[in-house]
Amino acid sequence: MANIILVGAQWGDEGKGKIIDVLTDKVGVVVRTQGGNNAGHTVFINDEKFVLHLIPSGILRKDKKCVIGNGVVIDPIGLCEEMEGLKKRGVKIDGNLFISETAHIVFPYHRELDSQREVLKGKNKIGTTKRGIGPAYADKASRTGLRTLDLINKERFKELLEARTNENNLILKTLGANPLSFKEVYEQYSVAAKYLKPYVTNTVMLLQEELQKETGILFEGAQGTFLDIDHGTYPYVTSSNTTAGGACTGSGVPPTCIDYVVGVMKAYTTRVGEGPLPSENSEIADLLHSMGREFGSTTGRPRRCGWFDAVSTSYAVKINGISKLAITNLDGLDTLGVIKVCVGYKYGSTTYNYVPSDINILTKVEPVYAEFEGWKKPTIGASNWKELPLNARKYLRAIAELSGARLNIVSVGPDRKQTIFV
Ligand code: IMP
Repeated sequence: MANIILVGAQWGDEGKGKIIDVLTDKVGVVVRTQGGNNAGHTVFINDEKFVLHLIPSGILRKDKKCVIGNGVVIDPIGLCEEMEGLKKRGVKIDGNLFISETAHIVFPYHRELDSQREVLKGKNKIGTTKRGIGPAYADKASRTGLRTLDLINKERFKELLEARTNENNLILKTLGANPLSFKEVYEQYSVAAKYLKPYVTNTVMLLQEELQKETGILFEGAQGTFLDIDHGTYPYVTSSNTTAGGACTGSGVPPTCIDYVVGVMKAYTTRVGEGPLPSENSEIADLLHSMGREFGSTTGRPRRCGWFDAVSTSYAVKINGISKLAITNLDGLDTLGVIKVCVGYKYGSTTYNYVPSDINILTKVEPVYAEFEGWKKPTIGASNWKELPLNARKYLRAIAELSGARLNIVSVGPDRKQTIFV
Protein backbone atom coordinates (compact mmCIF):
# COMPACT_ATOMS: atom_id res chain seq x y z
CA MET A 1 0.00 0.00 0.00
CA ALA A 2 1.14 3.55 -0.71
CA ASN A 3 2.62 6.03 1.76
CA ILE A 4 0.77 9.32 1.19
CA ILE A 5 1.34 12.82 2.54
CA LEU A 6 -1.78 14.97 2.67
CA VAL A 7 -1.35 18.74 3.01
CA GLY A 8 -3.57 21.80 2.97
CA ALA A 9 -2.79 23.88 -0.14
CA GLN A 10 -4.22 27.17 1.22
CA TRP A 11 -4.45 28.78 4.70
CA GLY A 12 -5.86 25.79 6.60
CA ASP A 13 -9.48 24.64 6.97
CA GLU A 14 -9.48 23.19 3.45
CA GLY A 15 -11.71 20.29 4.52
CA LYS A 16 -8.76 17.98 5.13
CA GLY A 17 -10.56 15.99 7.84
CA LYS A 18 -13.03 14.53 5.41
CA ILE A 19 -10.44 13.72 2.71
CA ILE A 20 -8.18 12.13 5.34
CA ASP A 21 -11.12 10.01 6.42
CA VAL A 22 -11.80 8.91 2.83
CA LEU A 23 -8.11 8.11 2.13
CA THR A 24 -7.75 6.22 5.42
CA ASP A 25 -9.60 3.40 3.73
CA LYS A 26 -6.47 2.84 1.59
CA VAL A 27 -3.91 2.63 4.43
CA GLY A 28 -3.25 0.86 7.73
CA VAL A 29 -1.71 3.75 9.68
CA VAL A 30 -2.52 7.46 10.02
CA VAL A 31 0.04 9.88 11.51
CA ARG A 32 -0.18 13.48 12.74
CA THR A 33 3.24 15.07 12.38
CA GLN A 34 2.99 18.76 13.33
CA GLY A 35 0.88 21.38 15.07
CA GLY A 36 -1.16 20.81 18.19
CA ASN A 37 -4.72 21.34 19.33
CA ASN A 38 -4.85 24.55 17.31
CA ALA A 39 -6.13 22.25 14.55
CA GLY A 40 -9.73 21.12 14.22
CA HIS A 41 -10.53 18.36 11.74
CA THR A 42 -14.24 17.86 11.19
CA VAL A 43 -15.58 14.52 9.98
CA PHE A 44 -19.25 13.58 9.45
CA ILE A 45 -20.18 9.92 9.56
CA ASN A 46 -23.87 9.15 8.96
CA ASP A 47 -24.82 12.69 10.07
CA GLU A 48 -22.80 12.31 13.26
CA LYS A 49 -20.24 15.10 13.67
CA PHE A 50 -16.74 14.49 15.07
CA VAL A 51 -14.19 17.28 15.60
CA LEU A 52 -10.64 16.08 16.21
CA HIS A 53 -7.90 18.35 17.49
CA LEU A 54 -4.88 16.14 18.27
CA ILE A 55 -5.93 12.59 17.48
CA PRO A 56 -5.60 11.56 13.82
CA SER A 57 -8.98 11.30 12.06
CA GLY A 58 -8.12 7.68 11.22
CA ILE A 59 -9.28 6.79 14.73
CA LEU A 60 -12.87 6.89 13.44
CA ARG A 61 -12.22 3.82 11.29
CA LYS A 62 -11.87 0.50 13.08
CA ASP A 63 -8.48 -1.25 13.16
CA LYS A 64 -6.36 1.65 11.90
CA LYS A 65 -3.25 2.47 13.86
CA CYS A 66 -3.10 6.18 14.70
CA VAL A 67 0.12 7.90 15.67
CA ILE A 68 0.74 11.30 17.23
CA GLY A 69 4.26 11.85 15.93
CA ASN A 70 7.34 13.53 17.43
CA GLY A 71 6.67 16.77 15.50
CA VAL A 72 3.38 17.45 17.30
CA VAL A 73 3.08 19.60 20.44
CA ILE A 74 0.70 17.98 22.92
CA ASP A 75 -1.56 19.63 25.45
CA PRO A 76 -2.03 16.57 27.70
CA ILE A 77 -5.19 17.88 29.35
CA GLY A 78 -6.79 18.56 25.95
CA LEU A 79 -5.65 15.16 24.67
CA CYS A 80 -7.13 13.28 27.67
CA GLU A 81 -10.45 15.08 27.17
CA GLU A 82 -10.44 14.26 23.47
CA MET A 83 -9.68 10.59 24.16
CA GLU A 84 -12.38 10.34 26.82
CA GLY A 85 -14.92 12.09 24.57
CA LEU A 86 -14.26 9.60 21.77
CA LYS A 87 -14.33 6.59 24.11
CA LYS A 88 -17.75 7.70 25.38
CA ARG A 89 -18.99 7.73 21.77
CA GLY A 90 -17.81 4.16 21.26
CA VAL A 91 -14.60 4.92 19.33
CA LYS A 92 -11.83 2.36 19.97
CA ILE A 93 -8.73 4.08 21.35
CA ASP A 94 -6.89 1.33 23.22
CA GLY A 95 -4.61 -0.59 20.91
CA ASN A 96 -5.17 1.95 18.12
CA LEU A 97 -3.56 5.13 19.46
CA PHE A 98 0.20 5.60 19.91
CA ILE A 99 1.86 8.76 21.19
CA SER A 100 5.48 9.65 20.44
CA GLU A 101 7.75 9.71 23.48
CA THR A 102 9.58 12.70 22.01
CA ALA A 103 6.61 14.94 21.19
CA HIS A 104 6.84 18.19 23.14
CA ILE A 105 4.34 19.20 25.83
CA VAL A 106 2.25 22.39 25.98
CA PHE A 107 1.95 23.88 29.46
CA PRO A 108 -0.35 26.58 30.90
CA TYR A 109 2.57 29.08 30.81
CA HIS A 110 2.76 28.56 27.02
CA ARG A 111 -0.92 29.47 26.68
CA GLU A 112 -0.52 32.47 28.97
CA LEU A 113 2.54 33.69 27.04
CA ASP A 114 0.68 33.20 23.75
CA SER A 115 -2.16 35.45 24.98
CA GLN A 116 0.14 38.07 26.52
CA ARG A 117 2.26 38.35 23.37
CA GLU A 118 -0.86 38.88 21.28
CA VAL A 119 -1.91 41.72 23.61
CA LEU A 120 1.56 43.26 23.37
CA LYS A 121 1.47 43.14 19.57
CA GLY A 122 -1.69 45.29 19.57
CA LYS A 123 -2.88 45.98 16.02
CA ASN A 124 -0.11 43.74 14.68
CA LYS A 125 -1.45 40.68 16.48
CA ILE A 126 -1.33 37.36 14.62
CA GLY A 127 -4.78 36.19 15.70
CA THR A 128 -3.47 32.92 17.17
CA THR A 129 -5.75 30.23 18.55
CA LYS A 130 -4.23 30.99 22.01
CA ARG A 131 -3.46 27.30 22.50
CA GLY A 132 0.20 28.04 23.41
CA ILE A 133 1.51 26.59 20.15
CA GLY A 134 4.12 29.28 19.33
CA PRO A 135 5.69 29.38 22.84
CA ALA A 136 5.77 25.53 23.01
CA TYR A 137 7.64 25.29 19.69
CA ALA A 138 9.89 28.17 20.84
CA ASP A 139 10.84 26.11 23.92
CA LYS A 140 11.53 23.12 21.68
CA ALA A 141 13.89 25.21 19.52
CA SER A 142 15.48 26.78 22.62
CA ARG A 143 16.06 23.26 24.01
CA THR A 144 14.07 24.10 27.13
CA GLY A 145 10.97 22.05 26.31
CA LEU A 146 9.65 18.97 28.10
CA ARG A 147 8.72 15.89 26.12
CA THR A 148 6.22 13.10 26.79
CA LEU A 149 9.04 10.90 28.08
CA ASP A 150 9.68 13.57 30.73
CA LEU A 151 5.98 13.88 31.51
CA ILE A 152 5.58 10.19 32.30
CA ASN A 153 8.73 10.02 34.46
CA LYS A 154 7.39 11.08 37.90
CA GLU A 155 10.61 12.23 39.56
CA ARG A 156 12.15 13.92 36.55
CA PHE A 157 8.88 15.65 35.65
CA LYS A 158 8.50 17.28 39.07
CA GLU A 159 12.01 18.69 39.00
CA LEU A 160 11.84 19.93 35.41
CA LEU A 161 8.37 21.43 35.72
CA GLU A 162 9.25 23.32 38.89
CA ALA A 163 12.31 24.90 37.25
CA ARG A 164 10.37 25.79 34.07
CA THR A 165 7.39 27.22 36.00
CA ASN A 166 9.66 29.42 38.14
CA GLU A 167 11.47 30.74 35.07
CA ASN A 168 8.26 31.43 33.14
CA ASN A 169 6.61 33.06 36.15
CA LEU A 170 9.38 35.68 36.11
CA ILE A 171 8.50 36.48 32.48
CA LEU A 172 4.75 36.47 33.16
CA LYS A 173 5.19 38.86 36.12
CA THR A 174 7.24 41.23 33.94
CA LEU A 175 4.42 41.20 31.39
CA GLY A 176 1.93 42.08 34.13
CA ALA A 177 0.25 38.65 34.08
CA ASN A 178 -0.52 36.42 37.06
CA PRO A 179 2.12 33.81 37.91
CA LEU A 180 1.07 30.14 37.78
CA SER A 181 0.96 27.77 40.74
CA PHE A 182 3.51 25.00 40.23
CA LYS A 183 1.57 22.75 42.63
CA GLU A 184 -1.70 23.08 40.71
CA VAL A 185 -0.10 22.49 37.31
CA TYR A 186 1.93 19.56 38.67
CA GLU A 187 -1.13 17.86 40.15
CA GLN A 188 -3.23 18.35 37.04
CA TYR A 189 -0.47 17.18 34.67
CA SER A 190 0.41 14.18 36.86
CA VAL A 191 -3.16 12.87 36.48
CA ALA A 192 -2.89 13.32 32.70
CA ALA A 193 0.54 11.66 32.66
CA LYS A 194 -0.85 8.55 34.37
CA TYR A 195 -3.72 8.41 31.87
CA LEU A 196 -1.47 8.83 28.82
CA LYS A 197 1.46 6.63 29.90
CA PRO A 198 0.16 3.36 28.36
CA TYR A 199 -0.06 5.04 24.95
CA VAL A 200 3.43 6.58 24.94
CA THR A 201 5.99 4.70 22.88
CA ASN A 202 8.85 4.95 20.37
CA THR A 203 6.68 5.75 17.34
CA VAL A 204 9.70 6.00 15.03
CA MET A 205 10.37 2.27 15.46
CA LEU A 206 6.65 1.51 15.22
CA LEU A 207 6.48 3.33 11.86
CA GLN A 208 9.65 1.63 10.63
CA GLU A 209 7.98 -1.74 11.28
CA GLU A 210 4.88 -0.62 9.38
CA LEU A 211 7.10 0.48 6.48
CA GLN A 212 8.62 -3.02 6.40
CA LYS A 213 5.15 -4.57 6.38
CA GLU A 214 4.05 -2.14 3.61
CA THR A 215 0.80 -1.42 5.48
CA GLY A 216 0.48 2.01 3.89
CA ILE A 217 0.83 5.21 5.92
CA LEU A 218 -1.17 8.42 5.58
CA PHE A 219 0.48 11.56 6.97
CA GLU A 220 -2.33 13.91 7.88
CA GLY A 221 -1.30 17.52 7.59
CA ALA A 222 -2.75 20.14 9.91
CA GLN A 223 -3.20 23.85 9.06
CA GLY A 224 -2.13 24.77 5.50
CA THR A 225 0.81 25.69 3.26
CA PHE A 226 0.59 29.45 3.83
CA LEU A 227 0.64 29.00 7.61
CA ASP A 228 4.02 27.21 7.33
CA ILE A 229 6.72 28.77 9.52
CA ASP A 230 9.19 28.82 6.56
CA HIS A 231 7.02 29.12 3.46
CA GLY A 232 3.91 30.89 4.77
CA THR A 233 2.98 34.55 5.05
CA TYR A 234 5.46 35.16 7.90
CA PRO A 235 4.94 36.41 10.60
CA TYR A 236 1.22 35.59 10.13
CA VAL A 237 1.82 31.86 10.32
CA THR A 238 1.72 29.01 12.81
CA SER A 239 4.93 27.68 14.37
CA SER A 240 5.40 24.35 12.56
CA ASN A 241 6.21 23.09 9.07
CA THR A 242 2.78 22.51 7.60
CA THR A 243 4.25 21.67 4.18
CA ALA A 244 5.14 18.16 2.97
CA GLY A 245 8.68 18.13 4.45
CA GLY A 246 7.18 18.41 7.95
CA ALA A 247 5.65 14.96 7.55
CA CYS A 248 9.11 13.36 7.44
CA THR A 249 10.80 15.35 10.22
CA GLY A 250 7.67 15.03 12.36
CA SER A 251 7.53 11.25 12.13
CA GLY A 252 11.00 9.81 11.43
CA VAL A 253 9.86 8.37 8.09
CA PRO A 254 12.39 9.23 5.35
CA PRO A 255 11.39 11.14 2.16
CA THR A 256 12.47 8.14 0.04
CA CYS A 257 9.53 6.15 1.45
CA ILE A 258 6.87 8.63 0.31
CA ASP A 259 4.89 7.63 -2.77
CA TYR A 260 2.93 10.81 -3.46
CA VAL A 261 1.51 14.03 -2.01
CA VAL A 262 -2.19 14.96 -2.07
CA GLY A 263 -3.07 18.64 -1.81
CA VAL A 264 -6.45 19.63 -0.42
CA MET A 265 -7.99 22.96 -1.36
CA LYS A 266 -11.40 24.57 -1.25
CA ALA A 267 -13.13 25.70 -4.44
CA TYR A 268 -12.69 29.19 -2.96
CA THR A 269 -10.29 30.61 -0.31
CA THR A 270 -10.57 31.14 3.44
CA ARG A 271 -8.32 32.22 6.28
CA VAL A 272 -8.76 32.60 10.06
CA GLY A 273 -6.71 35.14 11.97
CA GLU A 274 -4.74 38.09 10.67
CA GLY A 275 -2.41 38.40 7.68
CA PRO A 276 -2.67 38.94 3.93
CA LEU A 277 -5.38 37.27 1.85
CA PRO A 278 -5.07 38.79 -1.63
CA SER A 279 -8.36 37.50 -3.09
CA GLU A 280 -10.45 38.39 0.01
CA ASN A 281 -13.96 39.46 -0.98
CA SER A 282 -16.92 40.56 1.15
CA GLU A 283 -19.56 39.36 -1.34
CA ILE A 284 -18.45 35.74 -1.11
CA ALA A 285 -17.86 36.04 2.66
CA ASP A 286 -21.44 37.29 3.22
CA LEU A 287 -22.82 34.55 1.00
CA LEU A 288 -20.97 31.73 2.79
CA HIS A 289 -21.64 33.07 6.29
CA SER A 290 -25.35 33.49 5.48
CA MET A 291 -25.38 29.79 4.57
CA GLY A 292 -23.96 29.07 8.07
CA ARG A 293 -20.63 28.06 6.56
CA GLU A 294 -17.07 29.07 7.35
CA PHE A 295 -16.92 29.36 11.11
CA GLY A 296 -13.74 27.96 12.73
CA SER A 297 -14.07 24.47 14.28
CA THR A 298 -11.51 25.20 17.03
CA THR A 299 -12.35 28.79 17.99
CA GLY A 300 -15.74 29.38 16.31
CA ARG A 301 -14.39 32.56 14.70
CA PRO A 302 -15.93 33.52 11.32
CA ARG A 303 -13.39 32.75 8.62
CA ARG A 304 -12.34 35.43 6.15
CA CYS A 305 -13.35 34.37 2.62
CA GLY A 306 -12.24 35.12 -0.92
CA TRP A 307 -12.21 33.88 -4.50
CA PHE A 308 -10.08 30.90 -5.47
CA ASP A 309 -6.46 32.03 -5.63
CA ALA A 310 -4.51 30.12 -8.28
CA VAL A 311 -1.33 32.13 -7.65
CA SER A 312 -1.04 30.69 -4.16
CA THR A 313 -2.26 27.16 -4.98
CA SER A 314 0.22 26.80 -7.85
CA TYR A 315 2.98 27.85 -5.43
CA ALA A 316 1.69 25.26 -2.94
CA VAL A 317 1.73 22.55 -5.63
CA LYS A 318 5.38 23.36 -6.35
CA ILE A 319 6.76 23.47 -2.82
CA ASN A 320 4.84 20.42 -1.59
CA GLY A 321 5.33 18.29 -4.71
CA ILE A 322 1.55 17.80 -4.93
CA SER A 323 0.58 15.41 -7.73
CA LYS A 324 -3.08 14.85 -6.83
CA LEU A 325 -5.65 17.46 -5.88
CA ALA A 326 -8.72 17.11 -3.73
CA ILE A 327 -11.12 20.05 -4.17
CA THR A 328 -13.67 20.52 -1.40
CA ASN A 329 -16.71 22.70 -0.71
CA LEU A 330 -17.69 22.99 -4.37
CA ASP A 331 -21.32 23.25 -3.25
CA GLY A 332 -20.52 26.59 -1.53
CA LEU A 333 -20.46 28.20 -5.00
CA ASP A 334 -23.68 26.60 -6.32
CA THR A 335 -25.78 29.80 -6.34
CA LEU A 336 -23.32 32.16 -8.05
CA GLY A 337 -23.81 33.50 -11.61
CA VAL A 338 -20.18 34.54 -12.06
CA ILE A 339 -17.19 33.03 -10.28
CA LYS A 340 -13.82 34.76 -10.15
CA VAL A 341 -10.38 33.16 -9.93
CA CYS A 342 -7.25 35.11 -9.01
CA VAL A 343 -4.58 34.45 -11.66
CA GLY A 344 -1.99 37.13 -10.84
CA TYR A 345 -0.95 39.63 -8.17
CA LYS A 346 -0.36 43.13 -9.48
CA TYR A 347 2.03 45.41 -7.59
CA GLY A 348 2.98 48.61 -9.41
CA SER A 349 4.23 47.59 -12.83
CA THR A 350 4.97 43.99 -11.72
CA THR A 351 2.51 41.11 -11.98
CA TYR A 352 3.52 38.22 -9.75
CA ASN A 353 2.68 34.62 -10.69
CA TYR A 354 4.04 33.42 -7.34
CA VAL A 355 3.60 34.50 -3.74
CA PRO A 356 6.09 37.28 -2.91
CA SER A 357 7.95 36.70 0.37
CA ASP A 358 7.81 40.33 1.49
CA ILE A 359 4.68 40.76 3.59
CA ASN A 360 4.69 44.51 2.84
CA ILE A 361 4.28 43.72 -0.85
CA LEU A 362 1.84 40.86 -0.35
CA THR A 363 -0.56 43.01 1.69
CA LYS A 364 -0.67 45.61 -1.11
CA VAL A 365 -1.00 43.44 -4.24
CA GLU A 366 -4.11 43.83 -6.43
CA PRO A 367 -5.61 40.53 -7.57
CA VAL A 368 -5.95 39.97 -11.33
CA TYR A 369 -9.08 37.92 -11.99
CA ALA A 370 -10.32 35.51 -14.65
CA GLU A 371 -14.10 34.96 -14.72
CA PHE A 372 -16.06 31.73 -15.03
CA GLU A 373 -19.74 31.18 -15.62
CA GLY A 374 -21.51 29.67 -12.60
CA TRP A 375 -23.71 26.56 -12.78
CA LYS A 376 -26.56 27.78 -10.54
CA LYS A 377 -27.64 24.26 -9.67
CA PRO A 378 -27.13 22.19 -6.53
CA THR A 379 -24.11 19.88 -6.76
CA ILE A 380 -24.75 18.25 -3.39
CA GLY A 381 -26.57 15.23 -4.84
CA ALA A 382 -23.97 14.44 -7.52
CA SER A 383 -22.44 11.01 -7.00
CA ASN A 384 -20.11 10.93 -10.00
CA TRP A 385 -18.24 13.29 -12.33
CA LYS A 386 -20.87 13.17 -15.07
CA GLU A 387 -23.63 14.17 -12.65
CA LEU A 388 -21.89 17.48 -11.97
CA PRO A 389 -23.19 20.45 -14.04
CA LEU A 390 -21.04 21.16 -17.11
CA ASN A 391 -19.94 24.59 -15.83
CA ALA A 392 -18.91 23.07 -12.51
CA ARG A 393 -16.76 20.52 -14.35
CA LYS A 394 -15.21 23.30 -16.45
CA TYR A 395 -14.48 25.31 -13.32
CA LEU A 396 -12.89 22.35 -11.51
CA ARG A 397 -10.73 21.44 -14.51
CA ALA A 398 -9.62 25.08 -14.84
CA ILE A 399 -8.60 25.57 -11.21
CA ALA A 400 -6.75 22.23 -11.15
CA GLU A 401 -4.91 23.15 -14.37
CA LEU A 402 -4.06 26.64 -13.09
CA SER A 403 -2.73 25.04 -9.89
CA GLY A 404 -0.62 22.58 -11.87
CA ALA A 405 -1.73 19.17 -10.59
CA ARG A 406 -4.21 16.44 -11.49
CA LEU A 407 -7.72 16.58 -10.10
CA ASN A 408 -8.35 13.40 -8.13
CA ILE A 409 -11.19 14.00 -5.66
CA VAL A 410 -14.15 16.43 -5.55
CA SER A 411 -16.13 16.88 -2.37
CA VAL A 412 -19.72 18.15 -2.62
CA GLY A 413 -20.78 17.86 1.02
CA PRO A 414 -19.50 16.91 4.44
CA ASP A 415 -20.39 13.20 4.40
CA ARG A 416 -18.11 10.37 3.22
CA LYS A 417 -20.71 9.54 0.58
CA GLN A 418 -20.54 13.03 -0.93
CA THR A 419 -17.17 12.32 -2.54
CA ILE A 420 -16.46 12.02 -6.27
CA PHE A 421 -13.31 10.29 -7.53
CA VAL A 422 -12.24 11.77 -10.86
P1 IMP B 1 -1.43 29.44 16.27
O1 IMP B 1 -1.18 28.21 15.45
O2 IMP B 1 -2.49 29.24 17.31
O3 IMP B 1 -0.16 30.01 16.81
O4 IMP B 1 -2.01 30.57 15.28
C1 IMP B 1 -1.26 31.14 14.23
C2 IMP B 1 -2.11 31.38 13.00
O5 IMP B 1 -2.47 30.12 12.43
C3 IMP B 1 -3.43 32.10 13.28
O6 IMP B 1 -3.74 32.92 12.17
C4 IMP B 1 -4.44 30.96 13.38
O7 IMP B 1 -5.74 31.39 13.06
C5 IMP B 1 -3.89 30.02 12.32
N1 IMP B 1 -4.25 28.61 12.55
C6 IMP B 1 -3.74 27.77 13.47
N2 IMP B 1 -4.31 26.56 13.37
C7 IMP B 1 -5.18 26.62 12.37
C8 IMP B 1 -6.05 25.66 11.76
O8 IMP B 1 -6.12 24.49 12.14
N3 IMP B 1 -6.81 26.13 10.73
C9 IMP B 1 -6.72 27.39 10.26
N4 IMP B 1 -5.92 28.32 10.79
C10 IMP B 1 -5.14 27.94 11.83
